[in-house]
Amino acid sequence: MQKVDNPYRSIEAKVLEAITETPTIKTIRFRPAEPFGFKTGQFIEVTVPGVGEAPFTPSSRPSLREEMEVTVMKVGKVTARIHELKKGDTIGVRGPFGAGYPIDEFKGKEIAVVGGGCGLAPLRSLMYEFFSRSGEFKKLSFRGGCKNPQELLYRNEIDGWAKRDDLNLRLTVDKGDPTWKGNVGVVTTILDDLDMDYPRAIAVVCGPPIAMKFSTKKLLELGFKEKNIYLSMEKNMSCGIGKCGHCRLGTYYACKDGPVFTYDKIKNFPSIWD
Ligand SMILES: Cc1cc2nc3c(=O)[nH]c(=O)nc-3n(C[C@H](O)[C@H](O)[C@H](O)COP(=O)(O)OP(=O)(O)OC[C@H]3O[C@@H](n4cnc5c(N)ncnc54)[C@H](O)[C@@H]3O)c2cc1C
Ligand code: FES
Repeated sequence: MQKVDNPYRSIEAKVLEAITETPTIKTIRFRPAEPFGFKTGQFIEVTVPGVGEAPFTPSSRPSLREEMEVTVMKVGKVTARIHELKKGDTIGVRGPFGAGYPIDEFKGKEIAVVGGGCGLAPLRSLMYEFFSRSGEFKKLSFRGGCKNPQELLYRNEIDGWAKRDDLNLRLTVDKGDPTWKGNVGVVTTILDDLDMDYPRAIAVVCGPPIAMKFSTKKLLELGFKEKNIYLSMEKNMSCGIGKCGHCRLGTYYACKDGPVFTYDKIKNFPSIWD
């Protein structure tokens, strides 16, 4: 993993491609001027010159150091400008920051990956990592949900995942349409058949706070242990390095101690699902 010598130093990066994923989400593929490593689950700060900076968790392969991708939902000033980027434009990137997923601790275990909406972005990077180390884990299941079929990220790619022997995959949408043949309902409705040794299994959950809240509740009901449920807490951030206090989460700074936390560490803090 790249060591961050000066965390404030932004590296110039050239946009290679802007891919429209859904009506509100785009993936930006870019090439940093220097190779840029990250561990899956860590985040980077992306600067759009003249507009500002925002944190994103790369959605690309952690092993790919020459190019990276971020998948961005348009919600405000910086993300709106990111949606206007085109091939050849220049952005800045700094990081990586935070702790990421402790993949080595998952070896030999059954793993359930549960994602919703834009949460599928960091989970794609995680799934690449799992696929590249296939065989190290006992069982791998993926459960993904989103509002409707048009909002499903990486649809073609995920169709490919469905054919893998080393993955048990199910998808759901809150509201179907005539093209949709899968489950209809929120993501918690497709967790019952995970069929795992729940007290020993690992769950990785990423998505909108409401989806993470109810997925965690369901996983606990199934028998998952609090210490085995990994959540990605995307709190408002500024410095990214534990200095400004913007991302405070109880006794932690989400930027430095997270953004990935196990549920037992944060469950008693107020407003973790806000
Ligand atoms: C560690 C981390 C990883 C993230 N990864 C991704 C990612 O992979 N893809 C992605 O689309 N987004 C991700 N986000 C959220 C993203 O950083 C925000 O959407 C972005 O900062 C909004 O900037 P803006 O200027 O467009 O919006 P603003 O104009 O600043 O705000 C618009 C709206 O978005 C809300 N908002 C602003 N920042 C955040 C935030 N950090 N979290 C939640 N809501 C926020 C504001 O409250 C407001 O309602 C991540 C956030 C963090 C902290
Ligand atoms: S973003 Fe500044 S302390 Fe976390």
